[in-house]
Amino acid sequence: MNDKEKVAKYAAQTVKSGMLVGLGTGSTANYFIESLANRIKEEGIQITAVASSMVSMIKAQSLGIPLAAIENIQQLDLYVDGADEVTADNVLLKGQGSDLVKEKLLARASKQFMVLVDQSKKVERIGEKFPIPIEVMPFAWQMVKLQLEKLGGQGGLRQNQKGDGLAISAYGSLILDMTFTPSMSSHQLDAMLNNMPGVVEHGIFRDLASVVLMPENGEVKTISRS
Ligand code: A5P
Repeated sequence: MNDKEKVAKYAAQTVKSGMLVGLGTGSTANYFIESLANRIKEEGIQITAVASSMVSMIKAQSLGIPLAAIENIQQLDLYVDGADEVTADNVLLKGQGSDLVKEKLLARASKQFMVLVDQSKKVERIGEKFPIPIEVMPFAWQMVKLQLEKLGGQGGLRQNQKGDGLAISAYGSLILDMTFTPSMSSHQLDAMLNNMPGVVEHGIFRDLASVVLMPENGEVKTISRS
């Protein structure tokens, strides 16, 4: 069993009957969805899930997990998702997928947001390994890019997987992948992006993760927000 699978199984064990559970997106979230489906089949726990993406919704559906539509939800008990980067104080970078808006919405609406990572996701500062994904209204991308460049940002529009066109988010936005100098803290970047017209959402998740689960020396370590 790899580390992603290990933390995902651990997380699935924390789910209790009656919970409304948010399903993240990505390879780690997929392991969680599988483990949750096993508990439903084997132990008969009764839960309802809400998916953060079409991909997760289809996976959950195929495994027989009961689903509710996000439109009908105000609050969740638990949201479980992976991340691309995590700092020692549980700030995350997410958004390599195409459903950043739903991911942050579900994280914010959950009583508990549990983040599943392996050691490779640990960073000293946000933006160390990946550019910051910034979803923009399609008509605003040039104006937003210029504003970001004035703040020292460098980058451009994300390309699709084939590399022959642009990546489009699940709701039709474009994505700027931007790098900033290490002197810009995640706190500064978060505040600046939250306040920028034309930005739909961005990949910095501050003050959202309740607990990060990370394997260390064969054990699953839980790192709670201080
Ligand atoms: C989805 O948009 C991302 O934020 C994923 O949660 C992140 O890329 C982690 O993916 P893996 O679990 O596949 O590493």
